Amino acid sequence: MSQNQIFAKKSLQALLNEMKNDNRLRRVLGPITLTSLGVGAIIGAGIFVATGAAAKGVAGPALMISYVLAGVTCIFAALCYAEFASMAPVAGSAYTYAYTTMGEIFAWIIGWDLVLEYAVGSATVANGWSGYFQSVLAKFGIVLPDQLRQAHYVYENGYFVATGSWLNLPAVCIVALVTIILIKGIRESAGFNALMVFLKLLAVLFVIFVGMFYINPANYVPFAPFGWTGISIFGVPVAGQTNAGGDPIGMIAGAAIIFFAYIGFDSVSTHAEEAINPKRDVPIGIIASLLICTVLYVAVVAVLTGMVPYAQLSKDAGVADAFAKAGLPWAEFIIAAAGVAGITSVLLVMMLSGPRVFLAMARDGLIPSKFFADVHPKFRTPWKSTISIGLFVGILAGLLPIDALLHLTNIGTLFAFTIVCGAVLIMRKLNPNIERPFRCPWVPVIPILGILSCVLLMLSLPAANWWRLIGWLAIGLVIYFSYGKRHSFLGKEMRGEK
Ligand code: ALA
Repeated sequence: MSQNQIFAKKSLQALLNEMKNDNRLRRVLGPITLTSLGVGAIIGAGIFVATGAAAKGVAGPALMISYVLAGVTCIFAALCYAEFASMAPVAGSAYTYAYTTMGEIFAWIIGWDLVLEYAVGSATVANGWSGYFQSVLAKFGIVLPDQLRQAHYVYENGYFVATGSWLNLPAVCIVALVTIILIKGIRESAGFNALMVFLKLLAVLFVIFVGMFYINPANYVPFAPFGWTGISIFGVPVAGQTNAGGDPIGMIAGAAIIFFAYIGFDSVSTHAEEAINPKRDVPIGIIASLLICTVLYVAVVAVLTGMVPYAQLSKDAGVADAFAKAGLPWAEFIIAAAGVAGITSVLLVMMLSGPRVFLAMARDGLIPSKFFADVHPKFRTPWKSTISIGLFVGILAGLLPIDALLHLTNIGTLFAFTIVCGAVLIMRKLNPNIERPFRCPWVPVIPILGILSCVLLMLSLPAANWWRLIGWLAIGLVIYFSYGKRHSFLGKEMRGEK
C-alpha cells in the first residue's frame, strides 16, 4: 500500500466491528448513572481548592466570569465530544476519534496526551484530597508528621524546591485505595460514586444557600482588579497584566486556571463502551453534567467573593476558610468533610478513564497489547493498565505540588479538546453520510469557536506548561517511532503481515 502508515486512518466500520468482539467491558451504565459519573468527575478539587487562589491572585470577583468563559469553552468541546461519542461508542474517547479522522500519529499524540491529562489530573486531585483530609483530621486533633504531610517539592519562581517532606502520604494512600476499588469493577465503583456525588452536591448547595446570607456587595468592587485579559505567548505578554513571576493575570488567565474545575465531563465519553444505550445516553450524560456544574460554580464564586474581600481569601482552602472568616467554623468542618467525599469521587472517575485510554491504544497494538489490553477474567476490568497508571499517579501525587500539577493538566486537556473539535470538522468532510445519532449544532461555527477558545486559554497559562507539554509529547513520539509504529495492527495490516 502506498499510503504512509503514520497518516493511516482506522475505518469507522472497523471500530464498530470491534465492538462485537469478546473481551469487551460490561454494559451496565444508564443516563442517570452517566450524568452522575459526569458530575462526580467534574465537581472536585477545582472548585474546593483552586477557587480561593485564583480569585485572590489572578482574577478577583471577575472569577465568576472566568467560570462562565471556561464553562462555555467546555460546552463547545462537549458538543463535539458528544457527536463522536454517539457515533463511535467505544472506550478511548478522543484517541479513538483522532484515529478515525486524522491518522495514526495524531491518534498516538492525543492518546499520549490523554494519559497525561488523566494521570496528572488524578495526582492533582489526590493532592487536593490530602489537604482537605488533613483539615478534617486536624478537627480531631490528629496531625501527621512533617515528613508525610505534603509533596516532596514546591514550585517557586519557576523552580522545584525540596520542602523537607518525604512525600504526601495521604495522597499516595488514596490513590492506592482507588486503584484497588477500580480493579474490582465498575458496577461497585458507580454505586460508591453515586453516594459521593450526593454528599458533594449537598456541600455545594450548602455553600450557596447558607453563604448567600453573608454576601456584602461592597466586596464585588473592584470587580476585575487584575483586568479582563491576561494572555501571553511562550512567556511574552500580549494582553493584560502579569504577576511578579511573569505569569499572566486577569479574567481570562483566571479561566485558564479554574478550567481544571470542569475537567471530567469528557471522561463520560470514555465510558461509552460500558453504556447500555450509548448513542442516546452518552450525549445526555456529557451535556447535562456540564450545565449543572456551570450553574453551581458561578453561584459558589459569587458567594465566596461576596463573603470575603478577594484579597483576604485563603489560597489553599478558599471555600472552607470563607465560612470560618464569617464566624461559622462548624460550616468549615461540614465543607471539609464533604470536600473529602466529593474529591474522592473525582479521583475515582479520573483514574477510571486513564486505563481505558491505554486499553484502547493497546487494542490497536500501539502499546504492548498482551499487557495493557488484558481484561481481568473475573472482574472484567483492564487491571494491568489500572495498576500501571495507579503507580504513576501515586508517584506524581506523592512528590509534586498541586499548582504545577494543575496547570499541566489544564494545558494537556485543552490540547485534547482542540483536537476533538478539529476532528469533528474533519469527520464531517470525510464521512458526511455516516449515522450521527447526536449532531453537534451549527457546524463549523461551534467546533471553530471551541478551537479558538481552547487555544486562548492555553495561551493564558504560565509559559512553563507549554514546554512541559512539548516535552511529554516528545517522549511519546520516541515511544511511537521505536515501538508503536512497528507493532500497530493497522501498520501490520498495511504491510501484509496480518
Ligand atoms: N474537575 C475536577 C476537579 O475539579 C478535575 O477536581
